[in-house]
Amino acid sequence: MAGVAIIGLQWGDEGKGKITDFFSSSFDCVVRYQGGDNAGHTVVIGNKKYKFHLIPSGVLQNKKVVIGNGVVVNPRVLVEEIEMLKGNGIEPDLMVSDRANIIMPYHIMLDGLEEELLAEKKIGTTKRGIGPCYSDKIARHGIRMGDLINDFDKKLKRILKIKEKLFDAYGIKIDAEKLIEDYLKYAKKLEKYIGDTIYYLNSIIDDKNVLFEGAQGFLLDIDYGTYPYTTSSNPCVGGICTGAGISPKKIEKIIGVVKAYTTRVGKGPMPTEEKGQIGEYLAEKGKEFGTTTGRKRRCGWIDLVALKYACMVNGVDEIAITKLDVLDGLEEIKVCIGYEYDGKELKKFPSSIEILEQCKPIYETFKGWEKTRNKKNYEDLPVNAKRYLDYISNELKIPICIISTGERREDTIQL
Ligand code: IMP
Repeated sequence: MAGVAIIGLQWGDEGKGKITDFFSSSFDCVVRYQGGDNAGHTVVIGNKKYKFHLIPSGVLQNKKVVIGNGVVVNPRVLVEEIEMLKGNGIEPDLMVSDRANIIMPYHIMLDGLEEELLAEKKIGTTKRGIGPCYSDKIARHGIRMGDLINDFDKKLKRILKIKEKLFDAYGIKIDAEKLIEDYLKYAKKLEKYIGDTIYYLNSIIDDKNVLFEGAQGFLLDIDYGTYPYTTSSNPCVGGICTGAGISPKKIEKIIGVVKAYTTRVGKGPMPTEEKGQIGEYLAEKGKEFGTTTGRKRRCGWIDLVALKYACMVNGVDEIAITKLDVLDGLEEIKVCIGYEYDGKELKKFPSSIEILEQCKPIYETFKGWEKTRNKKNYEDLPVNAKRYLDYISNELKIPICIISTGERREDTIQL
């Protein structure tokens, strides 16, 4: 018994929520370790759709769910999610780290303002205050969940003294008394969930099954992604150690989630993006609209250069392929196997976004297939779909453990 990690290997929205939900029946505890309410998981059970931004999807299986110290928490959103669950008859067995930093209204204002100032060069953030909150954490001007229930007003006022000069320059007005009033209301509702998740997780990790659920995706990682067009945390496997207080020795298996094609929301390079008909087709058929912002996602073919890089850094053991059915009915399907840059072939994912922006994908083309939708057995998949999956698995040198052929729990092939 130990930890298993589920990590998105692309630019997020790989369908991690469904995979986490699928596996969570065999786990005792599901943990988030980074990001904030910029994430969005949709889980469909029967005819009911649940959307989460903060609470791990395992909550629907009545599992213990933990929000680790590496997460940034908007208490308003957390309260709303808890109330939504309670409204559906689910009392969440939730623990939130007392060390998790809190998103303040001014982080959200700064996020919006900085994006405005960046104009054409804006990141395309979710405007949830994620970057400014992590900036404050690193600058040691953050306020943590533990502070929410311990002298919150005094601590906030101390921070605001430093921040006011910056707010004046930006023309931001903060009503400190109103902020304190609102946040103390959240504190009352959240108090019973706040605790030391580090000791808790380490006390159970040797005896129980713990699932670490990555948010966003590896290519949005602040260190490994397409910086600065990234998020501000580490969705990579290393983020589990810093964001949940767990030793790397305790992570026994790493499952990489890969969508059968590629999507990206927000700005930044995406070599396999299809701006024409194919892109439209994938967006419509795959319902590629952000759970958090409702924005239409950019769509294109699967990119093995990026995926090999992701598998290398994360040490992925097994792959879960999602949304295979979205490719149903296409005449041909492409796989990017290299980049052409400056007349040469690149096999490595470049660190420079200026280079990545100029990379032209080199494709291997596969014959399409008619239908994988709702299939539940590997044997029932069309031969061309199997060829496509085999090719990806062989190139990545990693076995496929799950194939998802629809949004419902039962539309899943386990290998
Ligand atoms: P932020 O995390 O809101 O600062 O946004 C930074 C970048 O990450 C933007 O391109 C967002 O669209 C992207 N992003 C953040 N969260 C997600 C997610 O859960 N899925 C996909 N993209 C995300």
